[in-house]
Amino acid sequence: MTASNKITITKPDDWHLHVRDNEYLAGVLPHTADRFQRAIMMPNLAEPVTTVDMAESYRDRIIDALPAIYKLTFDPLMTLYLTNRTKVSEIKKARDAGFVHAVKWYPAGATTNSSKGVSDIVACYDVLEAMAEEGMPLLVHGEVTDPHVDVFDRERIFIEQFLEGIIKNFPDLKVVFEHITTKYAVELVEKSSANVGATITAHHMLLNRNAMFQGGIKPHNYCLPILKREEHREALVKAATSGNKKFFLGTDSAPHTRNAKENACGCAGIYTAHGGIELYAEIFDKADALAKLEGFASHHGPDFYGLPRNREKITLTRKKVAIPESFPFGNEEVVPFRAGGELLWSID
Ligand code: DOR
Ligand code: ZN
Repeated sequence: MTASNKITITKPDDWHLHVRDNEYLAGVLPHTADRFQRAIMMPNLAEPVTTVDMAESYRDRIIDALPAIYKLTFDPLMTLYLTNRTKVSEIKKARDAGFVHAVKWYPAGATTNSSKGVSDIVACYDVLEAMAEEGMPLLVHGEVTDPHVDVFDRERIFIEQFLEGIIKNFPDLKVVFEHITTKYAVELVEKSSANVGATITAHHMLLNRNAMFQGGIKPHNYCLPILKREEHREALVKAATSGNKKFFLGTDSAPHTRNAKENACGCAGIYTAHGGIELYAEIFDKADALAKLEGFASHHGPDFYGLPRNREKITLTRKKVAIPESFPFGNEEVVPFRAGGELLWSID
């Protein structure tokens, strides 16, 4: 086998993940723990994770649901859900607790379980100041919620209306622009200071918006921010494979039951945890940039968060693996990305 058919990298981390709660955890966690050492656990549960105490019990439920071999090794990195009422004292408490690594800003109404999110970011300025002081990163769902704004423009308008101002007003605040989907987001991150980074999903680099409508409506390709035009997909691949330390891996794997997706009012979210690193290997390979995969997947994230890089290694091989039509998910099932198709790379 030639070198480019196999690649060994430091074990990666997933800097943006949804695993849900309770009976749903056990079905999806092994996919992540098989591939990643750590994952940033998004706090948008039905009852959002707004306090350190809630984050601690959610962390315990996650560890309980992990397979025995991962209980001591896999590290769930917890986050808090920002609201208009989050207290400065909670930020200090979060820093002292050690297991809370970031605070997530969902504009109220922007996405799944975001109704209790932030309706007035100015009301959070004291909290943002405390986060800057504590070195606690702000993770941003960057979309405006104004229903008059075209759904494909919501990220671009958010940059203009909110994000540029936050970055300017809080130069010492670490900001992760989550799951970026446009060339405008890439440009903002590139021109900002080293305190501003971004995660990029595999699905936003593999699909453009046609994928939602090819041969009929495809609910399993519906996510938020919504898939964009080809030129934006290309800009994301270019950013991810550039070697720029500001860009790192965040799958935004977001499981929903089949019923919640194949529905007259289908939920947003694409489940990619079953190919959490393999899909990125495919993207980097196609871009002739496999040598840049380790930085993106394993180095840039911990460096940004101020955490140590992992020591273990994993090896990926160019070998096709069939993807099932579904995986068990609670008492129901989740339909994975590319269901019934193939992953082009596999983990040894
Ligand atoms: O597609 C998405 N799904 N985007 C989000 O922002 C949330 C996520 C979810 O929790 O389902
Ligand atoms: Zn997400």
